[in-house]
Amino acid sequence: MLFPKLFIPGPTNVRQEVLAEQTHPMIGHRTETFEDLFARVQEKLRRLFFTRHRVYVTASSGTGLQEAAIRNGVGKRVLAMVNGAFSRRWHDVAVGCGKEVVRVDIPWGRAVKPEDVVRAIQAHGPFDAVTVVHNETSTGVMSPVDEISRAVRDIAPDTLLLVDAVSSLSGVKIPVDEWGLDVTLTSSQKAMALPPGLAFAAVSDRVLERAREVEGRGWYFDFLVLEKYLRRNTTPATPAISLFWALDRQLDIMFAEGLENRFARHARLAHMTRTWALERGFRLFAEEGYESQTVTCVENTRGVDVPALNAFLRERGMTISNGYGDLKGKTFRIAHMGETTEADMEALFRAIDAFLNR
Ligand SMILES: Cc1ncc(COP(=O)(O)O)c(C=O)c1O
Repeated sequence: MLFPKLFIPGPTNVRQEVLAEQTHPMIGHRTETFEDLFARVQEKLRRLFFTRHRVYVTASSGTGLQEAAIRNGVGKRVLAMVNGAFSRRWHDVAVGCGKEVVRVDIPWGRAVKPEDVVRAIQAHGPFDAVTVVHNETSTGVMSPVDEISRAVRDIAPDTLLLVDAVSSLSGVKIPVDEWGLDVTLTSSQKAMALPPGLAFAAVSDRVLERAREVEGRGWYFDFLVLEKYLRRNTTPATPAISLFWALDRQLDIMFAEGLENRFARHARLAHMTRTWALERGFRLFAEEGYESQTVTCVENTRGVDVPALNAFLRERGMTISNGYGDLKGKTFRIAHMGETTEADMEALFRAIDAFLNR
């Protein structure tokens, strides 16, 4: 079977040595071995998220923590900023949790700006929390969550800021404490370059205070339960132990590269990809100045047959993504996140050029 190199926005390529970590013999999770592993990983995750507080690890994908953020952080009312498919999903999750949700739609391709959030709070507030997706994977747009956080603190200091950084965290610097983000969640299978199955959330003390007052938190994703177990270096339910070994190794690989180097590499790959697309006569779907550092959404201005392009690429051991939902055919997406290198991108561009020049 052929396993193409992935230039899709998740899952991303996982190093062989990280995959191999999952073949350790199984251990019980109520053991010192697991607690040591958990403690090691927790310390490294706090470095990665730039937080001194806590990073919960759940056996779920990122959507599970979108739900957790709502169940713990929202008593009644939440403002959902929607500028793509995944911010729309977060809105749907909040509705599904029975919350009163005010949805503000921003045209796809545009970023969420602080003034959009301020206007919505002034018109419809107060809110317990605001949901924002940092990096909209469906449109290749990165929103300025640092500016949004400052604006929300100014105008509504008791409103929590819940941030989905599923397709950016570890590819883009997100200093959680400095920016004052209340929940910052991500998935293992994106820029973290791990297999799917784990999700991570840095959670502020304010969220835990809020959670104490909120009913209907459920149990599996109850931050107060997760906190109690985290303090004992473990998890309430059976963790995905094999993935923890892989995580421990992958975090070491990230620190060996150096976090700043890792962020700079992502910025370089994004720049290469944008330059390539523009030089070939394509446009970028993202609003100028807000282009994602981890995935480029190319507007298909040349009318390329995207499935044919992908079939051509697959024969050469690579694959990219079509546009998301209604954007299928109108855009295509090239991810440059995780362990991807300049050489990988150059090989991809050579192959796409060969297709375009046929
Ligand atoms: C920005 C964003 N949020 C949420 C999700 C959902 O994450 P998961 O599939 O890990 O539940 C995705 C998946 O692509 C995403 O890109």
